[in-house]
Amino acid sequence: MILVTGGAGFIGANFVLDWLARNDEPVINLDKLTYAGNMETLASLKEDPRHIFVKGDIGDSALVADLLARHQPRAVINFAAESHVDRSISSPEDFIQTNIVGTFRLLEAVRGYWGGLSGGTRDGFRFVHVSTDEVYGSLASADPAFTESHRYEPNSPYSASKAASDHLVRAYRHTYGLPVLTTNCSNNYGPYHFPEKLIPLMIINALAGKPLPVYGDGMQVRDWLYVKDHCSAIRSVLEAGGPGEVYNVGGWNEKPNIEIVQTICALLDEFRPRADGKSYREQISYVKDRPGHDRRYAIDASKIQRELGWKPVETFETGIRKTVQWYLANPEWVSHVQSGAYREWVQTQYADTAAA
Ligand code: NAD
Ligand code: TYD
Repeated sequence: MILVTGGAGFIGANFVLDWLARNDEPVINLDKLTYAGNMETLASLKEDPRHIFVKGDIGDSALVADLLARHQPRAVINFAAESHVDRSISSPEDFIQTNIVGTFRLLEAVRGYWGGLSGGTRDGFRFVHVSTDEVYGSLASADPAFTESHRYEPNSPYSASKAASDHLVRAYRHTYGLPVLTTNCSNNYGPYHFPEKLIPLMIINALAGKPLPVYGDGMQVRDWLYVKDHCSAIRSVLEAGGPGEVYNVGGWNEKPNIEIVQTICALLDEFRPRADGKSYREQISYVKDRPGHDRRYAIDASKIQRELGWKPVETFETGIRKTVQWYLANPEWVSHVQSGAYREWVQTQYADTAAA
């Protein structure tokens, strides 16, 4: 079996659902269930004996050591993190605790477990650390995309905490020989995305008749990858990646934020036209910029394609259509998310950003 951390969050839950849809190898899912963890996403696995859910913290050394000893997983895949840049700016403490201290404690527990393995079990064990392209910092418009050897230059408390965790993972390979692999991926989108992030927030605000808050001039560029493509990249890295290696994962799909928002508006105009016949674009509202806002991220994903044969299946055009359709087809999931802590967060975040 495998141990997944953070498997009730956006990417982790998509990974667990895809994993169990593809094979019968059981998953232990360790998740603290912060505001971002959502058991409704995993509802289809409720009675499934292949899914063992444990509510707990990756920083709880005794709990993690016990889970490893009892279940003897062949791999650990670490998704657990605080993941939202804006939250890291307003309250960085949780990011330091989970992303740095939590990853450190998880690595220590895994090192203890792996040290007790022998033979093929020890040789075959893998620790996959799921990280972000944001550790590389911001690019100017003409700069080449990030490769795996790009220097680390994180700019937000989120990216700095992820960078620190990547360094710890690397050090555990170098110092202790732990068979780690790190992925640095660009922005994901798709089903079950918590609506604090750009794409789900825009879809949900649009349908609710609310403003679509575009930070600054809306010309910040991100590379976007459909979440299921990210999950397939992680499976490739787990099965065929070289211990100690780092793989950049991306969609070859750079777009400025305003274009993303306009595309969402156009799709909603097509699928669910506004009652007044006007376009959802009317709701676009430029607001105060994010402090220290990174201008551009771009991923060069040629290493993973060359060495592991992975490339994304979805284009942005196909992936965003599926995503908008998913949100339209799942109003219950959305409304349950909205009735929780999310509501309070939105009020704090947007209270003073009403106009640019
Ligand atoms: P998310 O915020 O949706 O989910 C994080 C999950 O981790 C939640 O279920 C939460 O309850 C859990 N968690 C938080 N702290 C924990 C702790 N201390 N112990 C156990 N569980 C804990 O995040 P996501 O978007 O699914 O991202 C998953 C991983 O992928 C993160 O490491 C993130 O840095 C990385 N990543 C995300 C993106 C993206 O676009 N979302 C892109 C690249 C990399
Ligand atoms: P986000 O989804 O928070 O991901 P990240 O900051 O990790 O890239 O934001 C994506 C981009 O969209 C980023 O440039 C910030 C911008 N953005 C807005 O313009 N308005 C919003 O309400 C949000 C949440 C993000």
